[in-house]
Amino acid sequence: MTTDSSHASPLAPEWLALPEDLNALQSPMWAAGVEKNDAGEVAIDGISVKELKEQFGTPLFVMSESDFRSRARAFKDAFDAAFGDICGGVDVYYAGKSFLCTAVASWVAEEGLRLDTCSGGELAVAARAGIEGRNLGLHGNNKSDAEINRALDMHVGRIVVDSLDELERVAKIASSRGETAKVMLRLTPGVHAHTHEFIATAHEDQKFGLSMAEDSTEEAGLSAAEEAVAAATSYSSIELLGLHCHIGSQIFEPDGFAVAGEKLLRFLSAMQSKYSIVLPELDLGGGYGIAYTPVDTPRPPAEIAQAMAAVVRSTCAELGIAAPRISIEPGRAIVGSTTFTLYEVGTLKTVRVDAPGGDAEQENVTYPRRYVSVDGGMSDNARPVLYDADYSAILASRSSTAAPQLSRVVGKHCESGDIVVRDVYLPADVAAGDLLAVPGTGAYCWALSSNYNYLARPGVVAVRDGAARLIVRGETEEDLLNRDMGVANV
Ligand code: LLP
Repeated sequence: MTTDSSHASPLAPEWLALPEDLNALQSPMWAAGVEKNDAGEVAIDGISVKELKEQFGTPLFVMSESDFRSRARAFKDAFDAAFGDICGGVDVYYAGKSFLCTAVASWVAEEGLRLDTCSGGELAVAARAGIEGRNLGLHGNNKSDAEINRALDMHVGRIVVDSLDELERVAKIASSRGETAKVMLRLTPGVHAHTHEFIATAHEDQKFGLSMAEDSTEEAGLSAAEEAVAAATSYSSIELLGLHCHIGSQIFEPDGFAVAGEKLLRFLSAMQSKYSIVLPELDLGGGYGIAYTPVDTPRPPAEIAQAMAAVVRSTCAELGIAAPRISIEPGRAIVGSTTFTLYEVGTLKTVRVDAPGGDAEQENVTYPRRYVSVDGGMSDNARPVLYDADYSAILASRSSTAAPQLSRVVGKHCESGDIVVRDVYLPADVAAGDLLAVPGTGAYCWALSSNYNYLARPGVVAVRDGAARLIVRGETEEDLLNRDMGVANV
């Protein structure tokens, strides 16, 4: 049906337009292969959400394997093409923190990408998936000795060192094993990117990385970054591969990556001359944004790659240095849009809300806000609570001709902030038993999930070529009680 503007709610945020058709899937939030079938149900690769619910229950993460693979390949191909003449191509490390299980790790390897890990647990997944150590990176601002040893056991291709303190530890551990650790240094270039803008400052007040600000150590005039380069070159148990930076997440404009890239290249060149070394690699991190709502405008990988390549090309030419091998670490931009979460609707409730904006003339005017409760919530998607993140949703189990009604999709947790979708227009006849689908939940949703209120964490289903299979099974009540030592042990 076509909607009529009289249904617009004054409570809706400015960015939220009445959808032209409430039953239509709005791109680019959905994975390839997701569509409405003839019965009006959302289906993925021809499998309807009703079938998925019957087979796997709800809540459920539903991921398109083919979409994951094509997004992974798209990054690799676009960056290889843009950087081919500069440094022979780009190593793409999928950021496992966004979503990781053994199936996904194996797809990553099969598509020619590498894997970025940041804990012993993520290394364990990589090992179980059979990823070769040389295709792994290990991050983290507080790696334990056990994690460093594990990385060395697995012969990981790079340990990204985050502090002077850690550099010394890695050097000692490698030396005690009679080995050489391959290391990159994570620097903080003072560039922060916020979705639509970036700011550049001299200093960084956060826990990650080595500051490039000149007064960042007590040694006069030496930055923590330079001190680390000097120290790294002095340890015989360290092979310094190069430099790394990561400027933020969910970024749309490529300018921030370009400014950070240029700053790191200038520093890399200065260090090469000063210490007579060659730093063969430069990693520019991840952070590419995706569409969570219809107003988000992600850039295609080729556009980002070309913007970054232009800066690397011109800066290296100006400095008269050979370009280092470039690598990147996208997580969200590969997995985020491959997945939707399927929920079942339960309780509905409408509250009256004061007119927004404190308009005196409207003092006694209130507007309805409908709360649509689903069978999950902040335990399977903490992002709205943690980051005020906006999402979208669609009635997935049928079409409706009812008028649009401003709705707030909430979970079932004992917490008023337990919001899944803060503002969305859904058909007025949404009822208990309907299924809702929330797109864009592939990254940092399952990964951040919890058992709050003893809810079992949902499973993850991968769909490919018209077949659905569990790649992570959902937890059961037994799982929830498994680690509880029982009354007998008290
Ligand atoms: N590389 C490093 C060193 C990182 O710290 C991160 C993300 C990435 C790569 C991948 O960034 P991506 O391409 O996925 O944006 N939980 C937050 C995001 C935290 C990002 C942490 N680091 C969220 O849900 O928005």
